[in-house]
Amino acid sequence: MTADPKPRSTSVTEMTEYVLPQHANPFGTVFGGQIMAWVDLCAAICAQRHAGRPCVTAFVDDLYFRGPVRVGQVVRLRAYVVATFRTSMEIDVRVSGENTVTGESWPTVDCRVTFVAMGDDARPTPVPALRLETDAERADQAAAEDRRRMRLAKR
Ligand SMILES: CC(C)(COP(=O)(O)OP(=O)(O)OC[C@H]1O[C@@H](n2cnc3c(N)ncnc32)[C@H](O)[C@@H]1OP(=O)(O)O)[C@@H](O)C(=O)NCCC(=O)NCCS
Repeated sequence: MTADPKPRSTSVTEMTEYVLPQHANPFGTVFGGQIMAWVDLCAAICAQRHAGRPCVTAFVDDLYFRGPVRVGQVVRLRAYVVATFRTSMEIDVRVSGENTVTGESWPTVDCRVTFVAMGDDARPTPVPALRLETDAERADQAAAEDRRRMRLAKR
């Protein structure tokens, strides 16, 4: 039986990380690899909430680190499902830095990650469709289908 479509709102995932010295490089700012790990975690939770299955990372789009986050500041992540395909999903993750003392916040990374839902047989398994509720969401799904074709062409 095919699962009912699910709206984006059911899987939106937010994480807040306090930057400690063990997260930092010699410049006192967060390691790129640490941000990538948080991006992967936040996106994985979002994907699994939507799929209702364990999911694996299949593809990470380009990552551009727009601004550093220092020790003592905060990294905030927000992930949502942009589009669903058959067994895979494109997840958008927005990362920002925050100075909790001044209230300032700034963009750090925007990234898209593709996850594949796994069945009990450890093979890809279908995911519920995304319930597209607005013209913007329908446009997002169409744009994601174009990006998916380009990713698959690189295999
Ligand atoms: C991702 C993985 C499950 C795909 O398995 P596969 O045998 O290629 O399976 P399929 O060809 O049936 O593809 C399954 C889905 O993955 C998608 N996919 C595969 N490679 C992809 C890529 N490079 N980019 C985007 N999507 C990809 C396919 O489009 C398909 O999605 P769809 O059903 O929505 O069309 C497999 O390559 C894998 O296990 N990779 C390692 C994952 C991993 O260890 N991640 C890190 C730890 S979580």
